[in-house]
Amino acid sequence: MYTQSFNVPDGDAQPGAPLKAVPHDTSLQAHFDAVIDADGKIEPRDWMPDAYRKTLVRQISQHAHSEIVGMLPEGNWISRAPSLKRKAILVAKVQDEGGHGLYLYSAAETLGTSRDQMFDALHSGKAKYSSIFNYPTLTWADVGVVGWLVDGAAIMNQIPLCRCSFGPYARAMIRVCKEESFHQRQGFESLMTMMQGTAEQKAMVQDAVNRWWWKCLAMFGPPDADSPNSVQGMRWGIKRISNDDLRQKFIDATVPQAEVLGVTLPDPELKWNEERGHHDHGQIDWDEFWAVVNGDGPCNKERLATRVKAWNDGAWVREAALAHARKQQERAMKEAA
Ligand SMILES: [Fe+2]
Ligand SMILES: [Fe+2]
Repeated sequence: MYTQSFNVPDGDAQPGAPLKAVPHDTSLQAHFDAVIDADGKIEPRDWMPDAYRKTLVRQISQHAHSEIVGMLPEGNWISRAPSLKRKAILVAKVQDEGGHGLYLYSAAETLGTSRDQMFDALHSGKAKYSSIFNYPTLTWADVGVVGWLVDGAAIMNQIPLCRCSFGPYARAMIRVCKEESFHQRQGFESLMTMMQGTAEQKAMVQDAVNRWWWKCLAMFGPPDADSPNSVQGMRWGIKRISNDDLRQKFIDATVPQAEVLGVTLPDPELKWNEERGHHDHGQIDWDEFWAVVNGDGPCNKERLATRVKAWNDGAWVREAALAHARKQQERAMKEAA
C-alpha cells in the first residue's frame, strides 16, 4: 500500500549488504553521477555507491513490508463485508497489496539482498514498516477511510517514486500507482454510499475520519527540518518531493473531497491561506508517531505475530514448491542426457 517518507535505520541487522564489495573507482563514480545528473536510470547491473544501494534496499524493503502488513487491517474485514459486491472489491484490493509486496521484494532482490534476509528482518521485529498499519480498523467505515485517506496518501507518496533513479523501483511503482488509484476510489465510493444512509452510518464515517486523519498526515514522515537524509535522497533522484510538500499536496487535495463527502476533518486550525495558496493546518503529534514507529502502537505486536504465524503456517507450501521444482529439474536433466 504505501511507503513512509522517512528514512530510519531498521535496527541492528541491516538487510542489504551488497553480495560483493566493489572497489571504489572514480571513473565509475563519475559515470554514476552523470547518469543521475541527466535524470537517467540506474539498473541493477550498473555500478552504484554502497550508500545508494543500502538506502534503496532499506527503503524498498520497508515499502514491501508495509504492503504485506497493510493487508492485515483490511483483511480482517473480508469475512464481515456488508455485501457480496463490497467483499469482492475488498478481496481484490487486499490481493493487490500482496502483489505490490511481491514486486517490491523482487526489486530489492536485484540489489543483492535475499528475500529470506528481508523476511527474517521483518519477522524478528528489526525491520520497520509504515506506522499507519499499527492502528486497528474498528468498524466497516474504517475500511472506506483506509481506502480514501491511507491509499490516497500512498498515491501522493508513490507517484514521485515512478521517477525514482533506480529502474526496477520506478517501473514497479507505475503499476502500483494505477492499482492504488482504484483503492482510493473504492474507499471514497464506499463512504459516499454510507453518507447517504442512516444517521448512525454517517456518524460511523465521521468517527473513522476523526481517528485516521492525523495518522495519515504523519504518513508523510517528519517535517523537512527533521529529515536530514532527505537532501541526499533528493541528490540521488530517489526522493523527488519533500515530506512537507507532499503533506501539503495531500491536504489541499483532500479538503474539497471531504466537503463533497460531507465530513469534517478534525483540525480546528485547518483553513485556506490566500497568501500561500494552500491550507494551513494544526500540529501533528510526532511523539505518538515515533512511539508507534518504535514498536509501541496499539497493534504492533498483533501485526507481527500474525505475519510470523502466516509464515510458519505456510512452511509446507514452500517445501512442496521446492520439492516440485527439484523434481522438474531432475526430469529435465534426464531428458537432456
Ligand atoms: Fe493500496
Ligand atoms: Fe499497495
